[in-house]
Amino acid sequence: MLTAYDMYTAQLFDEAGIPVLLVGDSAANNVFGYDTSLPVTVDELLPLVRAVTRSVKRALVVADLPFGSYQLSPEQALATSVRFMKEGRAHAVKLEGGRRFAPHVEAITSAGVPVMGHLGFTPQSEHNLGGYRVQGRGDDGDKVVADAVALQEAGAFAVVLEMVPAEVAKRVTHELRIPTVGIGAGPDCDAQVLVWQDMTGLRRGKVPRFVKRYADLAGVLSSAASQFADEVRQGTFPGPEHSFH
Ligand code: KIV
Ligand code: NA
Repeated sequence: MLTAYDMYTAQLFDEAGIPVLLVGDSAANNVFGYDTSLPVTVDELLPLVRAVTRSVKRALVVADLPFGSYQLSPEQALATSVRFMKEGRAHAVKLEGGRRFAPHVEAITSAGVPVMGHLGFTPQSEHNLGGYRVQGRGDDGDKVVADAVALQEAGAFAVVLEMVPAEVAKRVTHELRIPTVGIGAGPDCDAQVLVWQDMTGLRRGKVPRFVKRYADLAGVLSSAASQFADEVRQGTFPGPEHSFH
């Protein structure tokens, strides 16, 4: 699974054979320029979901429910999911949280909408979790397993495990019938997910330990922009081949 927030990335990743595209609330950081995922709204994410679903032929498109759009009640969770399905044309939704959100997952899946869970470090609860840190160490590993089982029993079709010890992710993956999708959760999950701007090197500076950079898009784009600027200043662009007569 990779994130996607627009047409070109959705088309490219779909054609590259990525089976699941997530329109993550990480668009907050990676599209809208917020410093956390908390401020992004349903109205901001919906057009991105619509762009991605319009652009794929095969991939399953999962819409992430943003902070505040599902926590109030199972009814709110269902109403928001319905918006992402009807207006965004998503194929599934994702929400963060364990046992306490089993009723929300059940309300959504009962209406025919597939739900992906998300456990471990859940960025929308950053302030409750005491910051950006690995979850499920020591005795807390059992809680991650119990939360994952609760989501499965509530009808979730998959669960993301973010920043949990590899041993815990392996246990969860063993216990569940549904697939686990890891991010900073070791090699034993059924699948893996990364944010596309992280794995292609578009995001600059320090990235989390679990990110592998497969490209240097920041370098490619900044050198293209400076070359363009240089050539315009020097008068070498546009050339005759770019001009009409
Ligand atoms: O919003 C997001 O990008 C995510 C993934 C990292 C799982 O939730
Ligand atoms: Na997210």
